[in-house]
Amino acid sequence: METTRVEARPVAERLVADEIAALVRRKPSAVLGLATGDTPTGVYRELVRMHREERVSFRGVHTFNLDEYCGLAPDHPETFRSWMQHHLFDHVDVRPEHTHLPDGRPREDDWAPPCKSYERAIEDLGGIDLLLLGIGRNGHIAFNEPGSARTTRTRRVELHPWTREDAVARFGTLARVPTHALTMGIATLLEARAIRVLAFGARKAPIVARTLATTPDMNWPASLLHGHPDVRLLVDREAWP
Ligand code: F6R
Repeated sequence: METTRVEARPVAERLVADEIAALVRRKPSAVLGLATGDTPTGVYRELVRMHREERVSFRGVHTFNLDEYCGLAPDHPETFRSWMQHHLFDHVDVRPEHTHLPDGRPREDDWAPPCKSYERAIEDLGGIDLLLLGIGRNGHIAFNEPGSARTTRTRRVELHPWTREDAVARFGTLARVPTHALTMGIATLLEARAIRVLAFGARKAPIVARTLATTPDMNWPASLLHGHPDVRLLVDREAWP
């Protein structure tokens, strides 16, 4: 895995935002795979700035988010949909109907249909050109928690205790944090033509070290990215092991 170590987080955020801007200029119908959470916020801030000041347009772009909580009502403030609206979609010219997240709304029956249609929608648009990932403290990528096989596709998963703990700050109490989510699978992620992984801050240093040192191992999902033909990990000084 190619790694880029930068002194400070904004340098990596700028590099990735520049790459996304170059892609959408070259291919206005580009398909982006997008993460939520603390890690990508600066990239989105930079894209918003480039849209306003440098006329980078997202008009023809399609986006697919990595994951969405299960069971939250569409108007719940902590859905990843509302997070994306707040951090990116509301501030650029992407068409609302081009922005896709797995459909995690409450449902009584099987979760397979919304998962299948998510995979189909990605495929119908020709696959993901550039995928932006963060890494969980336990090595998860999207919500593929430890033990996720390389062959997995979009599906419903149970969230790892650390993943739920990390979300308490947003939900207020652990009891309010959803127990399940819909996530792209490892196979879905690995099909992206280019993958950019960001890791910032000292709390990510142990998992960055583990990811770099481990040959592909489903107990450390980020290590399954080794061997992808175009994957790059960008880390700041604190996250560098
Ligand atoms: C978010 C996602 C997760 C996060 C990871 C890191 O859509 O799929 O894998 O990227 O949990 O989260 P932060 O960036 O908050 O440290």
